Amino acid sequence: MTGPESEGSLVRRAVCPGSFDPITNGHLDIISRASRLYDEVYVAVMINKAKKGLFEVDERLDLIRQVTAEYENVRIEAFHGLLVDFCKQRDIPAIVKGLRAVSDFDYELQMAQMNNGLSGVETLFVPTNPTYSFLSSSLVKEVATWGGDVSHLVPPVVLEALNKRLRRD
Ligand code: PNS
Repeated sequence: MTGPESEGSLVRRAVCPGSFDPITNGHLDIISRASRLYDEVYVAVMINKAKKGLFEVDERLDLIRQVTAEYENVRIEAFHGLLVDFCKQRDIPAIVKGLRAVSDFDYELQMAQMNNGLSGVETLFVPTNPTYSFLSSSLVKEVATWGGDVSHLVPPVVLEALNKRLRRD
């Protein structure tokens, strides 16, 4: 986008942050809903060097790129550092997070309050589609590791990548 629409607060931007190791249908649901609410949505793969993932960051980015290709206003980036700095550098005033259950709320509230205190960025919580209320990347990996069927929980390219990584293709 060029011209005045691209400047300052006229463009409504938000970020959907996460580890995305790998992206699931639950993430995708939140990203697609955010893409309808905002002009530009950043999907930020936050790099945590202390946590070895199943997929390398570049692989996660590639999978996210493939499954979000239909959303023209979605951008994908990896970032090492604080989420508030990612937001500051891109003039993003809002973080969009899915809330699956009350159990998510405690930690999400802490992060939202910390992020708001650090930089004034707001966090908007979107209730997860009940179909995915039990879904997490960790559970998907665990079930897939032991040969369980996760085909209804992740997009087909992610399923293929999981099967390849777990050597069952
Ligand atoms: O998918 P996850 O692992 O639940 O996502 C957690 C994530 C990456 C969003 C969170 O850990 C995060 O924002 N990390 C970036 C570092 C940071 O800003 N930490 C302070 C949070 S208050």
